[in-house]
Amino acid sequence: MTQETPWYKDAIFMELNTRAYKDSDADGWGDLPGLTSKLDYIKDLGVDAVWLLPIMPSPLRDDGYDVSDFCDIFPAYGNMDDFKTLMKEAHQRDLRIIVEIIPNHTSDQHRWFQASRDPNHPEHDKYRDWYVWSDTDQKYKDARIIFTDSETSNWTFDPLRGQYFWHRFYSTQPDLNYDNEEVQQAMLDTVKFWIDAGADGLRVDAPPYLFEREGTNCENLPETHTFLKRMRKFVDEYSPETLLLSEANQWPEDVIEYFGDGDEMHMNFHFPLMPRLFMALAKGDRTPIEEILARTPDLPEGCQWGTFLRCHDELTLEMVTPEERQWMWDTYAQDPKQRINLGIRRRLAPLVDNDQRKILLLHSMLLTMMGSPFLYYGDEIGMGDDIELFDRNGLRTPMQWDASFNAGFSDAPTERLYAPVISDPVYGYQKVNVAAQEADPHSLLNKVRHLIAIRKQHTVFGRGDFYWRSFSFETKAVVAYQRKWEGTRIVVLNNLREVPVKGWIPETAEKFIDLLSGETILPGDYTLPAYGFLWLQPVGEKANIPSGPNAPQPGYLGSDKE
Ligand code: NOJ
Repeated sequence: MTQETPWYKDAIFMELNTRAYKDSDADGWGDLPGLTSKLDYIKDLGVDAVWLLPIMPSPLRDDGYDVSDFCDIFPAYGNMDDFKTLMKEAHQRDLRIIVEIIPNHTSDQHRWFQASRDPNHPEHDKYRDWYVWSDTDQKYKDARIIFTDSETSNWTFDPLRGQYFWHRFYSTQPDLNYDNEEVQQAMLDTVKFWIDAGADGLRVDAPPYLFEREGTNCENLPETHTFLKRMRKFVDEYSPETLLLSEANQWPEDVIEYFGDGDEMHMNFHFPLMPRLFMALAKGDRTPIEEILARTPDLPEGCQWGTFLRCHDELTLEMVTPEERQWMWDTYAQDPKQRINLGIRRRLAPLVDNDQRKILLLHSMLLTMMGSPFLYYGDEIGMGDDIELFDRNGLRTPMQWDASFNAGFSDAPTERLYAPVISDPVYGYQKVNVAAQEADPHSLLNKVRHLIAIRKQHTVFGRGDFYWRSFSFETKAVVAYQRKWEGTRIVVLNNLREVPVKGWIPETAEKFIDLLSGETILPGDYTLPAYGFLWLQPVGEKANIPSGPNAPQPGYLGSDKE
């Protein structure tokens, strides 16, 4: 059964950390009631669905991705009643809420692991085989280490059990054993629990690593897909409107498997596209985007890409070549402290030198190129980061609501905040905050809001086919494409360079409406300003006859051909 109304194809998503959003009880930690009080802001931004970073109990060794109880709420965030209130208030505003499930692993504090590791535990017999145990650490040598900065092996010895346990992430996050049917069932029970609690969707963390097999890299194995299809079947039968959003950080040819034949995950993030947007911008050359889109297969019916610029993790450089990775580090992370694992731990605004033109240009591509866009909380006001904080926590600092005490985030004494608010002269809350930007018509917030509002008026952006177009026939500076859906088409031009680029708007219409300004633009010669972009809706049809100094030579229509 497929979804009758694939709402996620038209949705704008926003990812946020409950802890970082709004503290309602002055303990220094954001919480569910605090988040509920900010739903109007989220709605006004144009967001349709909020993806919550993990909200379950956890010792926070991996910021909540180390879960110690899959069916409860982290106490500082509130309780299940608070979650239900959040759901009710969200639904009243036509907002959806996506929660995390983390099927691959638990915290080492989870009672399942405690029972599994301890032969004297009363429930040891039940949980003995729920994790991947071995007498040797020499198995599965072909599996890569993901947290390269902190782990040297995927095996850790447990003295109590006298065996090694397998973990793809931190050694405090033992992997569950999916060869055990009871584990598979327990994860389906977790899915059911959150659907029953009202969640509209589940973001499925790190799906590629569920199974291990000797002689493989232990990623994307057929058994993994079989289990994910089982999860989908359960969801389709139990709650067909529930979205499964998968986080398979893989190359397009491997990611496509996570959609199955439309019977696995509804959505998956397009990880390889993301660094290439930044690469193309810094090079002033669209080639990296062209190359990855050429490798991107069409999706089965009912499926959708999730696209993003930044998220709560490092800007991952796993899906680029080693040379490209080095180039990205040299370009975007000159300070070694900005690097972590195979990525860059910086927020959007600092990555692009706080240049509003570049931030908006990246949003133009995010909102029009393909799939459904994911915003990361705080990027809409250009928040900064704090690389002095541990791990990726510098990207997860308190939301900056206003210029008052603690950025309007919390009434707790400053030293009790879970993390310091950003207060440097450039990105500090005194300057960068929601209240100030709401009052300024030229603020980043208002411009991002405008782009989102226009995107939402045109279904073609979420559903349409993609075709390259040509703008300048001399340079690769412009990312020009057309989206087409059910008789509608929109042409989008994005200038990647800091200089104006002369080009030629295809004469395939009598005129174009610039959707962002409402102005009329005639086809033919046009100069796109530095980092400028246009979303053009054609009016009337006209033969494509090149003319004017910037037009292509007769007979050369370049990539305008479909
Ligand atoms: C992906 C999450 O996005 C990341 O934050 C986490 O550390 C790993 N999965 C492990 O759960």
